[in-house]
Amino acid sequence: MKTRNNRLMIGEIEADQLVKKYGSPIYVYDEEIIRNRFRELKESIPYRKLRIYYACKANTNPHIMKIMLEEGAYIDAISPGEIMMALKAGFKPEQLMFTSTSVTDEDMKFAIEKGVLVNCDSLSQLERYGKINPQSSVSIRINPDVGAGHHGHVITGGPDSKFGIYFDKLHDAQAIAKKHNLRIIGVHQHIGSGIIEKEKFIQAMAMLLKTANEIEGLEFIDFGGGLGVPYKPGQERLDIKKLGMEITEKFTAFCSEYGKELHLYIEPGRYPVAEAGTLLCTVNTIKETPKHKFAGVDTGFNHLVRPAMYGSYHEIINASNVEAEKKQKIAIAGNICESGDVFTRDEHGIVNREMPEIKEGDVLAILNAGAYGYSMSSNYNTRPRPAEILVKGKEARVIRKRETFEHLEFGLD
Ligand code: LLP
Repeated sequence: MKTRNNRLMIGEIEADQLVKKYGSPIYVYDEEIIRNRFRELKESIPYRKLRIYYACKANTNPHIMKIMLEEGAYIDAISPGEIMMALKAGFKPEQLMFTSTSVTDEDMKFAIEKGVLVNCDSLSQLERYGKINPQSSVSIRINPDVGAGHHGHVITGGPDSKFGIYFDKLHDAQAIAKKHNLRIIGVHQHIGSGIIEKEKFIQAMAMLLKTANEIEGLEFIDFGGGLGVPYKPGQERLDIKKLGMEITEKFTAFCSEYGKELHLYIEPGRYPVAEAGTLLCTVNTIKETPKHKFAGVDTGFNHLVRPAMYGSYHEIINASNVEAEKKQKIAIAGNICESGDVFTRDEHGIVNREMPEIKEGDVLAILNAGAYGYSMSSNYNTRPRPAEILVKGKEARVIRKRETFEHLEFGLD
Protein backbone atom coordinates (compact mmCIF):
# COMPACT_ATOMS: atom_id res chain seq x y z
CA MET A 1 0.00 0.00 0.00
CA LYS A 2 1.34 3.39 -0.99
CA THR A 3 0.38 6.59 0.80
CA ARG A 4 1.15 10.28 0.39
CA ASN A 5 0.13 12.98 2.90
CA ASN A 6 -1.93 10.42 4.80
CA ARG A 7 -3.86 9.57 1.62
CA LEU A 8 -4.01 6.25 -0.22
CA MET A 9 -2.32 6.28 -3.62
CA ILE A 10 -3.30 4.21 -6.64
CA GLY A 11 -0.42 4.38 -9.06
CA GLU A 12 0.69 8.01 -8.67
CA ILE A 13 -2.77 9.37 -7.97
CA GLU A 14 -4.51 10.01 -4.67
CA ALA A 15 -7.55 7.76 -4.36
CA ASP A 16 -9.86 10.53 -3.12
CA GLN A 17 -8.89 12.65 -6.14
CA LEU A 18 -10.11 9.83 -8.38
CA VAL A 19 -13.45 9.88 -6.58
CA LYS A 20 -13.60 13.66 -6.93
CA LYS A 21 -13.03 13.37 -10.66
CA TYR A 22 -15.01 10.25 -11.59
CA GLY A 23 -17.61 10.03 -8.81
CA SER A 24 -18.37 7.34 -6.25
CA PRO A 25 -18.31 4.38 -6.17
CA ILE A 26 -15.68 3.39 -8.74
CA TYR A 27 -13.53 0.37 -9.50
CA VAL A 28 -9.93 1.43 -10.06
CA TYR A 29 -7.19 -0.81 -11.52
CA ASP A 30 -3.46 -0.24 -11.43
CA GLU A 31 -2.01 -1.35 -14.77
CA GLU A 32 1.49 -1.79 -13.41
CA ILE A 33 0.34 -4.37 -10.87
CA ILE A 34 -1.47 -6.39 -13.54
CA ARG A 35 1.61 -6.47 -15.76
CA ASN A 36 3.95 -7.29 -12.88
CA ARG A 37 1.84 -10.14 -11.57
CA PHE A 38 1.47 -11.59 -15.04
CA ARG A 39 5.21 -11.43 -15.73
CA GLU A 40 6.04 -12.89 -12.35
CA LEU A 41 3.80 -15.83 -13.13
CA LYS A 42 5.29 -16.33 -16.57
CA GLU A 43 8.82 -16.26 -15.20
CA SER A 44 7.96 -18.70 -12.43
CA ILE A 45 7.50 -21.55 -14.93
CA PRO A 46 10.67 -21.68 -17.04
CA TYR A 47 9.21 -24.16 -19.54
CA ARG A 48 9.69 -23.36 -23.22
CA LYS A 49 6.22 -24.30 -24.40
CA LEU A 50 4.27 -22.57 -21.64
CA ARG A 51 0.99 -20.82 -22.38
CA ILE A 52 -0.92 -18.74 -19.86
CA TYR A 53 -4.66 -18.73 -20.52
CA TYR A 54 -6.08 -15.79 -18.57
CA ALA A 55 -9.40 -16.97 -17.07
CA CYS A 56 -11.26 -13.82 -17.98
CA LYS A 57 -14.26 -14.60 -15.76
CA ALA A 58 -12.18 -12.87 -13.08
CA ASN A 59 -12.38 -9.58 -14.95
CA THR A 60 -13.71 -9.29 -18.50
CA ASN A 61 -13.09 -5.63 -19.10
CA PRO A 62 -11.69 -5.66 -22.67
CA HIS A 63 -9.11 -3.00 -21.76
CA ILE A 64 -7.73 -5.29 -19.08
CA MET A 65 -7.85 -8.22 -21.50
CA LYS A 66 -5.88 -6.07 -23.95
CA ILE A 67 -3.13 -5.71 -21.35
CA MET A 68 -3.08 -9.51 -21.07
CA LEU A 69 -2.83 -9.78 -24.84
CA GLU A 70 0.16 -7.44 -24.86
CA GLU A 71 1.77 -9.56 -22.16
CA GLY A 72 1.40 -12.69 -24.30
CA ALA A 73 -1.65 -14.28 -22.68
CA TYR A 74 -4.24 -16.59 -24.20
CA ILE A 75 -7.85 -16.70 -22.98
CA ASP A 76 -9.90 -19.24 -21.07
CA ALA A 77 -13.50 -18.38 -21.95
CA ILE A 78 -16.50 -19.86 -20.17
CA SER A 79 -19.38 -18.56 -22.30
CA PRO A 80 -20.18 -17.16 -25.74
CA GLY A 81 -20.19 -13.73 -24.06
CA GLU A 82 -16.60 -14.17 -22.87
CA ILE A 83 -15.56 -15.40 -26.33
CA MET A 84 -17.10 -12.27 -27.78
CA MET A 85 -15.34 -10.00 -25.26
CA ALA A 86 -11.98 -11.65 -25.92
CA LEU A 87 -12.36 -11.24 -29.68
CA LYS A 88 -13.36 -7.62 -29.09
CA ALA A 89 -10.17 -7.15 -27.06
CA GLY A 90 -8.16 -8.34 -30.08
CA PHE A 91 -7.47 -11.99 -29.34
CA LYS A 92 -7.57 -14.39 -32.29
CA PRO A 93 -9.91 -17.41 -32.06
CA GLU A 94 -6.92 -19.76 -31.95
CA GLN A 95 -5.75 -17.99 -28.78
CA LEU A 96 -8.92 -19.04 -26.96
CA MET A 97 -10.24 -22.17 -25.37
CA PHE A 98 -13.89 -22.66 -24.44
CA THR A 99 -14.32 -24.47 -21.11
CA SER A 100 -17.79 -24.45 -19.67
CA THR A 101 -20.27 -26.67 -17.87
CA SER A 102 -23.87 -27.75 -18.56
CA VAL A 103 -23.10 -26.68 -22.11
CA THR A 104 -25.78 -26.38 -24.79
CA ASP A 105 -25.33 -27.31 -28.44
CA GLU A 106 -25.84 -23.61 -29.26
CA ASP A 107 -22.92 -22.64 -27.00
CA MET A 108 -20.70 -25.20 -28.73
CA LYS A 109 -21.81 -24.16 -32.22
CA PHE A 110 -20.96 -20.55 -31.36
CA ALA A 111 -17.42 -21.54 -30.33
CA ILE A 112 -16.96 -23.86 -33.32
CA GLU A 113 -18.15 -21.23 -35.82
CA LYS A 114 -15.72 -18.71 -34.34
CA GLY A 115 -12.88 -21.26 -34.59
CA VAL A 116 -12.38 -21.70 -30.84
CA LEU A 117 -11.23 -25.04 -29.41
CA VAL A 118 -13.86 -26.71 -27.22
CA ASN A 119 -12.89 -28.36 -23.94
CA CYS A 120 -15.60 -30.89 -23.06
CA ASP A 121 -16.87 -31.08 -19.49
CA SER A 122 -18.92 -34.29 -19.70
CA LEU A 123 -19.39 -37.45 -21.74
CA SER A 124 -22.74 -35.98 -22.83
CA GLN A 125 -21.03 -32.86 -24.17
CA LEU A 126 -18.35 -34.90 -25.93
CA GLU A 127 -20.99 -37.07 -27.60
CA ARG A 128 -22.93 -34.00 -28.77
CA TYR A 129 -19.72 -32.26 -29.83
CA GLY A 130 -18.82 -35.32 -31.91
CA LYS A 131 -22.16 -35.18 -33.70
CA ILE A 132 -21.90 -31.44 -34.37
CA ASN A 133 -18.23 -31.37 -35.36
CA PRO A 134 -16.94 -34.86 -36.27
CA GLN A 135 -13.35 -35.44 -37.40
CA SER A 136 -12.04 -32.47 -35.47
CA SER A 137 -9.73 -31.75 -32.55
CA VAL A 138 -11.09 -31.52 -29.05
CA SER A 139 -9.93 -31.26 -25.47
CA ILE A 140 -11.43 -32.94 -22.41
CA ARG A 141 -11.71 -31.71 -18.84
CA ILE A 142 -10.87 -34.35 -16.26
CA ASN A 143 -12.03 -34.38 -12.66
CA PRO A 144 -8.87 -35.77 -11.01
CA ASP A 145 -10.63 -36.69 -7.73
CA VAL A 146 -8.72 -33.90 -5.96
CA GLY A 147 -10.20 -30.51 -5.06
CA ALA A 148 -9.14 -27.40 -3.15
CA GLY A 149 -10.14 -23.78 -2.68
CA HIS A 150 -10.88 -20.92 -0.31
CA HIS A 151 -14.56 -21.90 0.11
CA GLY A 152 -16.74 -24.92 -0.64
CA HIS A 153 -18.43 -23.02 -3.48
CA VAL A 154 -15.20 -22.83 -5.46
CA ILE A 155 -13.79 -26.34 -5.03
CA THR A 156 -14.12 -27.85 -8.49
CA GLY A 157 -12.48 -31.25 -8.19
CA GLY A 158 -13.54 -34.37 -6.29
CA PRO A 159 -16.84 -36.26 -5.97
CA ASP A 160 -18.95 -33.22 -4.90
CA SER A 161 -17.95 -31.24 -7.96
CA LYS A 162 -20.15 -31.02 -11.04
CA PHE A 163 -17.13 -30.33 -13.25
CA GLY A 164 -15.23 -32.50 -15.68
CA ILE A 165 -15.24 -36.12 -16.74
CA TYR A 166 -14.30 -38.26 -13.73
CA PHE A 167 -10.82 -39.66 -14.31
CA ASP A 168 -12.11 -43.24 -14.16
CA LYS A 169 -14.38 -42.58 -17.18
CA LEU A 170 -11.48 -41.88 -19.52
CA HIS A 171 -12.03 -45.02 -21.56
CA ASP A 172 -15.66 -44.03 -22.20
CA ALA A 173 -14.46 -40.63 -23.42
CA GLN A 174 -11.93 -42.29 -25.70
CA ALA A 175 -14.63 -44.58 -27.13
CA ILE A 176 -16.87 -41.57 -27.91
CA ALA A 177 -13.94 -39.77 -29.52
CA LYS A 178 -13.17 -42.81 -31.66
CA LYS A 179 -16.79 -43.14 -32.78
CA HIS A 180 -16.82 -39.55 -34.11
CA ASN A 181 -13.21 -39.52 -35.34
CA LEU A 182 -12.26 -36.87 -32.80
CA ARG A 183 -8.63 -36.24 -31.92
CA ILE A 184 -8.22 -35.61 -28.19
CA ILE A 185 -5.38 -33.11 -28.38
CA GLY A 186 -5.60 -31.80 -24.84
CA VAL A 187 -6.48 -32.76 -21.29
CA HIS A 188 -7.48 -30.19 -18.74
CA GLN A 189 -8.28 -29.86 -15.07
CA HIS A 190 -9.16 -27.04 -12.71
CA ILE A 191 -9.46 -28.18 -9.11
CA GLY A 192 -10.58 -24.96 -7.45
CA SER A 193 -9.91 -21.32 -6.73
CA GLY A 194 -7.94 -19.32 -4.19
CA ILE A 195 -5.54 -22.15 -3.39
CA ILE A 196 -2.51 -21.28 -1.32
CA GLU A 197 -1.18 -24.76 -0.59
CA LYS A 198 1.39 -25.83 -3.17
CA GLU A 199 0.87 -29.51 -2.36
CA LYS A 200 -2.70 -29.57 -3.69
CA PHE A 201 -1.54 -28.43 -7.13
CA ILE A 202 1.21 -31.01 -7.20
CA GLN A 203 -1.11 -33.80 -6.09
CA ALA A 204 -3.69 -32.90 -8.76
CA MET A 205 -0.95 -32.53 -11.35
CA ALA A 206 0.24 -36.08 -10.66
CA MET A 207 -3.31 -37.37 -11.13
CA LEU A 208 -3.76 -35.58 -14.45
CA LEU A 209 -0.40 -36.76 -15.75
CA LYS A 210 -1.41 -40.33 -14.98
CA THR A 211 -4.56 -39.84 -17.06
CA ALA A 212 -2.65 -38.06 -19.82
CA ASN A 213 -0.26 -40.99 -20.11
CA GLU A 214 -3.14 -43.12 -21.35
CA ILE A 215 -4.00 -40.80 -24.25
CA GLU A 216 -2.08 -40.88 -27.51
CA GLY A 217 -1.59 -37.82 -29.70
CA LEU A 218 -1.83 -35.11 -27.05
CA GLU A 219 -0.56 -31.63 -27.85
CA PHE A 220 -1.13 -29.94 -24.48
CA ILE A 221 -1.94 -30.50 -20.85
CA ASP A 222 -3.80 -27.74 -19.01
CA PHE A 223 -3.47 -27.66 -15.21
CA GLY A 224 -6.10 -24.95 -14.74
CA GLY A 225 -6.02 -21.90 -12.51
CA GLY A 226 -6.64 -21.48 -8.82
CA LEU A 227 -3.51 -19.66 -7.66
CA GLY A 228 -4.46 -17.73 -4.55
CA VAL A 229 -3.39 -14.27 -3.44
CA PRO A 230 -3.15 -12.98 0.13
CA TYR A 231 -6.24 -11.01 1.17
CA LYS A 232 -5.46 -10.53 4.86
CA PRO A 233 -2.56 -8.34 5.97
CA GLY A 234 0.35 -10.56 6.95
CA GLN A 235 -1.03 -13.61 5.13
CA GLU A 236 1.73 -15.60 3.47
CA ARG A 237 2.05 -15.52 -0.33
CA LEU A 238 1.95 -18.69 -2.34
CA ASP A 239 5.54 -19.37 -3.33
CA ILE A 240 4.95 -19.39 -7.08
CA LYS A 241 8.67 -19.61 -7.85
CA LYS A 242 8.95 -22.88 -5.96
CA LEU A 243 5.67 -24.14 -7.38
CA GLY A 244 6.68 -23.12 -10.90
CA MET A 245 10.01 -24.94 -10.64
CA GLU A 246 8.34 -28.10 -9.39
CA ILE A 247 5.73 -27.95 -12.17
CA THR A 248 8.46 -27.45 -14.77
CA GLU A 249 10.55 -30.36 -13.49
CA LYS A 250 7.61 -32.74 -13.24
CA PHE A 251 6.25 -31.77 -16.63
CA THR A 252 9.62 -32.05 -18.36
CA ALA A 253 10.10 -35.52 -16.88
CA PHE A 254 6.59 -36.51 -18.01
CA CYS A 255 7.22 -35.30 -21.57
CA SER A 256 10.39 -37.30 -21.93
CA GLU A 257 8.52 -40.41 -20.81
CA TYR A 258 5.59 -39.55 -23.11
CA GLY A 259 8.04 -39.07 -25.97
CA LYS A 260 6.94 -35.58 -27.04
CA GLU A 261 7.49 -32.04 -25.82
CA LEU A 262 3.90 -31.04 -25.06
CA HIS A 263 2.56 -27.55 -24.40
CA LEU A 264 1.97 -26.75 -20.74
CA TYR A 265 -1.05 -24.55 -20.08
CA ILE A 266 -2.18 -22.83 -16.90
CA GLU A 267 -5.34 -20.74 -16.46
CA PRO A 268 -5.01 -18.11 -13.75
CA GLY A 269 -7.88 -15.68 -13.32
CA ARG A 270 -7.46 -14.15 -9.89
CA TYR A 271 -3.67 -14.01 -9.73
CA PRO A 272 -2.90 -11.26 -12.25
CA VAL A 273 -5.84 -8.98 -11.45
CA ALA A 274 -7.03 -9.36 -7.83
CA GLU A 275 -4.45 -7.14 -6.21
CA ALA A 276 -4.61 -4.56 -8.99
CA GLY A 277 -8.22 -3.60 -8.27
CA THR A 278 -9.74 -1.35 -5.60
CA LEU A 279 -13.37 -0.48 -5.05
CA LEU A 280 -13.54 3.13 -3.88
CA CYS A 281 -16.69 4.27 -2.12
CA THR A 282 -17.83 7.08 0.16
CA VAL A 283 -19.17 6.99 3.70
CA ASN A 284 -22.57 8.65 4.04
CA THR A 285 -23.82 7.41 7.43
CA ILE A 286 -22.40 6.57 10.86
CA LYS A 287 -24.79 4.80 13.25
CA GLU A 288 -24.78 2.49 16.25
CA THR A 289 -26.71 -0.47 17.64
CA PRO A 290 -26.01 -2.08 21.02
CA LYS A 291 -23.62 -4.48 19.22
CA HIS A 292 -22.05 -2.55 16.37
CA LYS A 293 -20.93 0.78 15.11
CA PHE A 294 -21.66 0.93 11.38
CA ALA A 295 -20.21 3.09 8.64
CA GLY A 296 -22.66 3.06 5.74
CA VAL A 297 -21.23 3.46 2.24
CA ASP A 298 -22.62 4.11 -1.25
CA THR A 299 -21.90 0.60 -2.59
CA GLY A 300 -22.90 -2.90 -1.55
CA PHE A 301 -22.88 -6.58 -2.44
CA ASN A 302 -24.41 -5.67 -5.80
CA HIS A 303 -20.92 -4.32 -6.65
CA LEU A 304 -18.70 -6.66 -4.63
CA VAL A 305 -20.39 -9.87 -3.57
CA ARG A 306 -17.40 -11.85 -2.25
CA PRO A 307 -17.82 -10.97 1.47
CA ALA A 308 -21.57 -11.72 1.42
CA MET A 309 -21.21 -14.82 -0.75
CA TYR A 310 -18.14 -16.50 0.73
CA GLY A 311 -17.44 -14.53 3.93
CA SER A 312 -14.29 -13.38 2.13
CA TYR A 313 -11.99 -10.92 3.82
CA HIS A 314 -11.18 -7.72 1.93
CA GLU A 315 -8.90 -5.19 3.56
CA ILE A 316 -10.59 -1.78 3.89
CA ILE A 317 -8.61 1.43 4.19
CA ASN A 318 -9.77 4.92 5.00
CA ALA A 319 -8.26 6.44 1.88
CA SER A 320 -8.88 9.99 3.10
CA ASN A 321 -7.13 9.44 6.44
CA VAL A 322 -4.98 6.33 6.22
CA GLU A 323 -3.05 6.68 9.43
CA ALA A 324 -5.60 8.36 11.70
CA GLU A 325 -4.37 7.83 15.24
CA LYS A 326 -7.72 7.23 16.86
CA LYS A 327 -8.72 3.59 16.43
CA GLN A 328 -12.19 2.10 16.71
CA LYS A 329 -14.05 -1.13 16.09
CA ILE A 330 -16.45 -0.67 13.24
CA ALA A 331 -18.43 -2.61 10.63
CA ILE A 332 -18.64 -1.32 7.07
CA ALA A 333 -22.17 -1.64 5.73
CA GLY A 334 -23.40 -1.39 2.17
CA ASN A 335 -26.51 0.28 0.80
CA ILE A 336 -28.38 -2.87 -0.23
CA CYS A 337 -31.58 -3.67 1.66
CA GLU A 338 -30.39 -6.90 3.29
CA SER A 339 -28.68 -7.30 6.67
CA GLY A 340 -26.04 -9.51 5.06
CA ASP A 341 -24.79 -6.52 3.11
CA VAL A 342 -21.78 -5.84 5.32
CA PHE A 343 -18.27 -5.89 3.89
CA THR A 344 -16.56 -6.70 7.20
CA ARG A 345 -17.70 -10.24 7.80
CA ASP A 346 -16.59 -13.82 7.90
CA GLU A 347 -18.52 -17.03 7.25
CA HIS A 348 -20.31 -16.66 10.65
CA GLY A 349 -21.53 -13.10 10.24
CA ILE A 350 -20.66 -9.46 10.87
CA VAL A 351 -17.22 -8.67 12.25
CA ASN A 352 -16.37 -5.35 13.88
CA ARG A 353 -12.97 -4.51 12.49
CA GLU A 354 -10.36 -2.36 14.16
CA MET A 355 -9.86 0.62 11.88
CA PRO A 356 -8.71 4.21 12.05
CA GLU A 357 -11.44 6.76 12.70
CA ILE A 358 -14.01 7.08 9.93
CA LYS A 359 -16.18 10.13 9.32
CA GLU A 360 -19.07 10.78 6.97
CA GLY A 361 -17.63 11.98 3.66
CA ASP A 362 -14.45 9.86 3.91
CA VAL A 363 -13.45 7.74 0.92
CA LEU A 364 -12.97 4.06 1.76
CA ALA A 365 -10.88 1.72 -0.37
CA ILE A 366 -11.88 -1.94 -0.49
CA LEU A 367 -8.69 -3.62 -1.58
CA ASN A 368 -7.91 -6.68 -3.71
CA ALA A 369 -11.19 -6.30 -5.58
CA GLY A 370 -9.81 -6.68 -9.11
CA ALA A 371 -10.87 -10.31 -9.50
CA TYR A 372 -14.50 -11.43 -9.26
CA GLY A 373 -15.53 -7.90 -8.29
CA TYR A 374 -17.07 -6.10 -11.23
CA SER A 375 -17.46 -9.39 -13.12
CA MET A 376 -19.82 -10.71 -10.38
CA SER A 377 -21.66 -7.42 -9.90
CA SER A 378 -25.37 -7.02 -10.47
CA ASN A 379 -28.14 -4.46 -10.66
CA TYR A 380 -29.82 -5.78 -7.50
CA ASN A 381 -31.94 -3.10 -5.83
CA THR A 382 -32.03 -1.51 -9.31
CA ARG A 383 -28.79 0.32 -8.79
CA PRO A 384 -26.40 1.01 -11.68
CA ARG A 385 -22.92 -0.51 -11.70
CA PRO A 386 -19.94 1.76 -11.00
CA ALA A 387 -17.48 3.07 -13.58
CA GLU A 388 -14.14 1.30 -14.07
CA ILE A 389 -10.97 3.40 -14.16
CA LEU A 390 -7.52 2.29 -15.29
CA VAL A 391 -4.53 4.03 -13.72
CA LYS A 392 -1.09 4.02 -15.27
CA GLY A 393 1.36 6.01 -13.17
CA LYS A 394 0.03 9.57 -13.13
CA GLU A 395 -2.63 8.96 -15.76
CA ALA A 396 -6.15 7.70 -15.31
CA ARG A 397 -8.85 6.89 -17.85
CA VAL A 398 -12.35 5.52 -17.83
CA ILE A 399 -12.40 1.98 -19.23
CA ARG A 400 -16.09 1.46 -18.61
CA LYS A 401 -18.64 4.17 -17.99
CA ARG A 402 -20.83 4.23 -14.94
CA GLU A 403 -24.21 2.71 -15.75
CA THR A 404 -27.18 5.02 -16.00
CA PHE A 405 -30.91 4.52 -15.62
CA GLU A 406 -30.94 3.78 -19.37
CA HIS A 407 -28.88 0.62 -18.71
CA LEU A 408 -31.41 -0.41 -16.08
CA GLU A 409 -34.22 -0.08 -18.61
CA PHE A 410 -32.39 -2.17 -21.21
CA GLY A 411 -34.64 -4.73 -22.86
CA LEU A 412 -37.93 -3.15 -21.86
CA ASP A 413 -40.44 -2.37 -24.60
N1 LLP B 1 -10.19 -22.23 -15.14
C1 LLP B 1 -11.46 -22.62 -14.92
C2 LLP B 1 -12.02 -23.69 -15.72
C3 LLP B 1 -12.22 -21.99 -13.91
O1 LLP B 1 -13.48 -22.38 -13.68
C4 LLP B 1 -11.65 -20.94 -13.16
C5 LLP B 1 -12.41 -20.27 -12.09
C6 LLP B 1 -10.32 -20.56 -13.45
C7 LLP B 1 -9.63 -21.23 -14.44
C8 LLP B 1 -9.63 -19.44 -12.73
O2 LLP B 1 -9.50 -19.65 -11.38
P1 LLP B 1 -8.65 -18.63 -10.50
O3 LLP B 1 -7.23 -18.65 -11.00
O4 LLP B 1 -9.26 -17.29 -10.65
O5 LLP B 1 -8.78 -19.13 -9.12
N2 LLP B 1 -15.93 -16.16 -7.67
C9 LLP B 1 -14.94 -16.87 -6.89
C10 LLP B 1 -13.98 -17.63 -7.77
C11 LLP B 1 -14.65 -18.55 -8.76
C12 LLP B 1 -13.71 -19.23 -9.72
C13 LLP B 1 -14.43 -19.94 -10.79
N3 LLP B 1 -13.59 -20.60 -11.74
C14 LLP B 1 -14.24 -15.90 -5.96
O6 LLP B 1 -14.57 -14.72 -5.98
O7 LLP B 1 -13.38 -16.31 -5.17
